[in-house]
Amino acid sequence: MRPAAESETRFNPAEKRKGERRSGKDRRDDAAWQPVSVEAAPTIAVGREEDLVAAATEARTHAHAQYSGFKVGAALETVEGFAITGCNIENATYGLTLCAERVALVKALSDGHEIFTRIAVIADTDEPTPPCGPCRQLLWEYCGDIEIILANLHGITGKYRLSALLPMPFDNRLLK
Ligand code: THU
Repeated sequence: MRPAAESETRFNPAEKRKGERRSGKDRRDDAAWQPVSVEAAPTIAVGREEDLVAAATEARTHAHAQYSGFKVGAALETVEGFAITGCNIENATYGLTLCAERVALVKALSDGHEIFTRIAVIADTDEPTPPCGPCRQLLWEYCGDIEIILANLHGITGKYRLSALLPMPFDNRLLK
């Protein structure tokens, strides 16, 4: 290989980046000095369905919908009367996108909540925006026949039981 002339190496930006690149160990050492929060995700007390919709509306403001432009918020109500919220989180692969309902559900389950009563879903559409098929399946698995409150920016657009949206579910009864 031809030896590089001095002018080619002196200002090589790739070399410069390599020099500045920090190893995983550097980051771990830094992390050792960061305060770590051990609190669970905050829960919001809800009573009226309007409170649940308001929680979903607030969650929607955190949506990462940079590819579709379609922001969704969700708020899942626990039997104790708390709302666990979620928003859609998109990804450049598209396929790894997480729906707002699923984000709320996995947050709630991973915080130890087990029994759910309602979920509010809000999007900026005139027609109700119902949960997609995979979200219906997951909600059925972990929430049973909960009430689904659909809303847009002006208010509630529809209320359904999950069994009406997923009338013939595949579930663990069939695995016996
Ligand atoms: N989306 C949801 O988050 N929930 C729904 O019920 C329908 C669709 C999201 C996924 C994607 O980020 C965007 O909306 C467009 O499909």
